Amino acid sequence: MASASPVLQLGLLRMRPLQYWLKFRVPPSAWGAVCDGRPAFGSWSQEESLLHINCLEMLAVMKALQFFQVTDGQMSLLVFSVPLLLVVAVMKALSCSPLSALCRQVYSGILKLLHRKVCVSSTHAFVFSNCTHGQAQSVLLTFDLYSTTHASSNIGPQKGEFLDEIVAREAPLRVLELGTHCGYASVRILRLLPPSGKLLTVELDPLTADRGEEIILVAGFKNQQFQVLTCSSAEAISSLRSHTGNDGLDLVLMDHDPELYLQDLLALQRGNLLSSSCVVLINRALTPGARDLVEHVTARPQSFSVGRQLHGLMEIRCHTGMSPKPQN
Ligand SMILES: C[S@@+](CC[C@H](N)C(=O)[O-])C[C@H]1O[C@@H](n2cnc3c(N)ncnc32)[C@H](O)[C@@H]1O
Repeated sequence: MASASPVLQLGLLRMRPLQYWLKFRVPPSAWGAVCDGRPAFGSWSQEESLLHINCLEMLAVMKALQFFQVTDGQMSLLVFSVPLLLVVAVMKALSCSPLSALCRQVYSGILKLLHRKVCVSSTHAFVFSNCTHGQAQSVLLTFDLYSTTHASSNIGPQKGEFLDEIVAREAPLRVLELGTHCGYASVRILRLLPPSGKLLTVELDPLTADRGEEIILVAGFKNQQFQVLTCSSAEAISSLRSHTGNDGLDLVLMDHDPELYLQDLLALQRGNLLSSSCVVLINRALTPGARDLVEHVTARPQSFSVGRQLHGLMEIRCHTGMSPKPQN
């Protein structure tokens, strides 16, 4: 409680009514908790043990709350940390305070961080060690096998077949993928590109970009056929001309952040980076974040034709791209 006293004086912390006290020890290899005399404990997985101590503390809170089934939506968490001992009070009636909003933000941030790390590293490890190296089809089947038992962020086999059809039909020479993740869609696209086709794939997160690139290489593709750009979609688009030269993009797969789809499409158009009849595929088209883009294209039938859609993967043909290059 020593560390709580300065906050209490400032009136930032209301200590009543107190409902639960939990006491934690957070050594590097395990967590433990006691609630009303009842103990709970567990060990950190290898992935979790790499997290910062502050994240481990919050994670310990989450695990303990799950164990003790303290799930009431009105509850808020207050966390005080003193060396080696984390004391958590679960209190009622703070649900509207800025402090509880902050707690919720921190909590959801840690979940996202964990999900990203666990998902990327374990997907990569599974695919790397179970596929036949050099065989793109084996890489894809190993991803699909992994997804039968684990949460996965890739487009998966059903939407993957839809993507295959479009790549085979369009035979694109220049493809841009926004959101590489572990390289599943990249491998699907690359195996169907014409011999002179090239994929540029963009990934914001450096760790994920490295893992994705490694899987693409494991699938047997060479650096002349693809490039992973480790940056945001906006940065990639602004420097795209240096990668594509005068060639317009024939296919764009947007699978990064639906909130950015419209602004990225507009930036591609402003930069005159789309070929005369470019196909833009957007994933998660039915999520609220993608609504702006869907409304934008459906309101402009002279510039865009909305094609087929499968489980939120939507095909849009843009008629606003650069004019065809003169044939010699
Ligand atoms: C759904 S996953 C992509 C899955 C991948 N297309 C596949 O099917 O294999 C989304 C990825 O986009 C990345 N991402 C999110 N926002 C981004 C941005 N603004 N620019 C680039 N990548 C971004 C995330 O880090 C994540 O790896």
